[in-house]
Amino acid sequence: MSDEAVYPVTDHFRNKALIDKETYESMYQRSIQDPESFWAEQAKRLDWMKPFSRVKDVSFASDDVHIRWFDDGTLNAAANCIDRHLEERSGQPAIIWEPDEESEDNRVITYAELHEEVSRLANGLKSLGVKKGDIVTLYMPMVPEAAYAMLACARIGAIHSVVFGGFSPEALAGRIDDGGSKVVITADEARRGGKRVPLKANVDEAVSLCKESSVDNVVVLKATGGNVDFNGNRDIWYRDLVGKQSDQCEPEEMGAEDTLFVLYTSGSTGKPKGVVHTTGGYLLHTSITHEYVFDYRPGEVYWCSADVGWITGHSYVVYGPLANGGTTMMFEGVPTYPDVGRLGRIIDKYKIATFYTAPTAIRSLMAEGDAPVANADLSSLKLLGTVGEPINPEAWRWFHQKFGKGQCPIVDTWWQTETGGILISPLPGAIDLKPGSATKPFFGVQPALMDPEGNEMEGATSGGLVLKDSWPGQMRTILGNHQRFVETYFSTYEGCYFTGDGAKRDEDGYYWITGRVDDVLNVSGHRMGTAEVESALVSHDAVAEAAVVGCPHEIKGQGIYVYVTLTHGQSPSDELAKELKQHVRKEIGPIATPDVIQWADGLPKTRSGKIMRRILRKIAADEFDSLGDTSTLADPNVVDDLIEGHRVAA
Ligand code: PRX
Repeated sequence: MSDEAVYPVTDHFRNKALIDKETYESMYQRSIQDPESFWAEQAKRLDWMKPFSRVKDVSFASDDVHIRWFDDGTLNAAANCIDRHLEERSGQPAIIWEPDEESEDNRVITYAELHEEVSRLANGLKSLGVKKGDIVTLYMPMVPEAAYAMLACARIGAIHSVVFGGFSPEALAGRIDDGGSKVVITADEARRGGKRVPLKANVDEAVSLCKESSVDNVVVLKATGGNVDFNGNRDIWYRDLVGKQSDQCEPEEMGAEDTLFVLYTSGSTGKPKGVVHTTGGYLLHTSITHEYVFDYRPGEVYWCSADVGWITGHSYVVYGPLANGGTTMMFEGVPTYPDVGRLGRIIDKYKIATFYTAPTAIRSLMAEGDAPVANADLSSLKLLGTVGEPINPEAWRWFHQKFGKGQCPIVDTWWQTETGGILISPLPGAIDLKPGSATKPFFGVQPALMDPEGNEMEGATSGGLVLKDSWPGQMRTILGNHQRFVETYFSTYEGCYFTGDGAKRDEDGYYWITGRVDDVLNVSGHRMGTAEVESALVSHDAVAEAAVVGCPHEIKGQGIYVYVTLTHGQSPSDELAKELKQHVRKEIGPIATPDVIQWADGLPKTRSGKIMRRILRKIAADEFDSLGDTSTLADPNVVDDLIEGHRVAA
């Protein structure tokens, strides 16, 4: 054992867990040695309309990347998440919804009601002309109708493209355009922490900005009753659409490799890419990981606090839990509204068994001392989980102690939008915990660490994190750009999927994710491409050049640090800094708001004109002593000016 603190599997999990140590070891070995038979057997957890005869058809070779699982089988994701549970669980809550305002009524939706709602909306979408293979854009608040809309698309074989409600009209327009959506489903407004976001007004603006798509219909849910402009030729109220529909809708027979959804995520270059997930493999992966990583038992109330606009919301608010006949909690609000005790009250109110959240939320509560848990009982909790960014051991321990009372294991789950579901994580009955480590690979997952020359390294070491073989939930391509898919993920290390993350492996074979090694930031667990923020900045008249890097941030994990060179005749001012921040918010959304703007007369460039970001990162992090070799810079004096400028800005 290494010398880090170890938290052994608890007695509770040792005796009762779905997967214990021995089972994990033997199942893992089988999953690697004979993936075909392993996954064929696991795939029985889904209901297939037509069984598959081929399990896996995969190549990671850069001249022929293709990934197919169960590809001659057919099934329907919505039928797997709803219909097949009706016999046993029609009266059981499928979704429990807690509103932003504590004083308002909550909603409990049974499987029978979910079936009815989804079928009506599915018929409504059909009545608008939506067909199998069409992309429908969803821009929704955290309300049950967001889940209905995803499942209604799945039911009729339409592809959903959910855009997080915090993105700006510009960002929304880009995503509508890219997928060519004819129908957008939205709400009048979203509410979060007492504030309102004008979703419908944003859609109106986005639609007018679209260059490629012509949106025929906007379906509008009345969520808050806020005022909206209504275009009678195009807009239709959600309730009017579903009200007249039948509550029966035959689920469409879909090929396992038919696209279930597209979800946009940021990379190190270019515009956000549309990550394509397909039906069979994705559903199998989210279902099996939801059951085993969270040791989920039917009847338990399970709460993943992610927004459905992110992959975590797709996989672990909607598809995983519902595929397993579970009860999934949806919370419209934020952890600190109306006060920091809110999460504890929700856990007690619904007797939540598993609470899965982001390190940034934990750190923001930790800053409040004992207040978040002071009046909470929390004895219903059996398991905690984290996702989205590395968790610092201090926050891990606080969460373990204050929410878990020292009794609940924490599953630190590492995965990505691209991976569809969890890949590296403890199984609570099988794997001892080390705070800050995502521990061991899930079944079928083969991580490896690479040196800069592309050689796999053995033993305790650190390097670029790759996956050597496919798993069912893996993304299949980038929408409309398979070449970019190959270049982004399969060209750095031949024959491997490159994650973009760096990791360390210790003597016990535990993985510790150290963060992105590319130009992608992780701000409060949200991915942000530096190139995207830079291009937003340079679209402002005052900006000649901009370079964006991450900087350490106590709550967000990483903050957004911007170096700006102004155009001739412009001079730095607080007003201009405010204006630039506002400009980025408008172009991308509030999550991209820069934390620090530093005015820079020049940026550190090599003689060939390439910006040396390494230096900018070090300066932003106050690490002036380890700038490394600066002799190749075209003008080494720039560095001193930048250090001086940093002292002023920070
Ligand atoms: O850097 C890793 C970090 O989040 C990235 C993926 O971001 P996204 O696609 O938005 O998906 C987030 C939710 C799955 C990864 O490349 N990351 C995610 N989970 C962890 C993590 N870093 C460390 N530990 C984790 N548990």
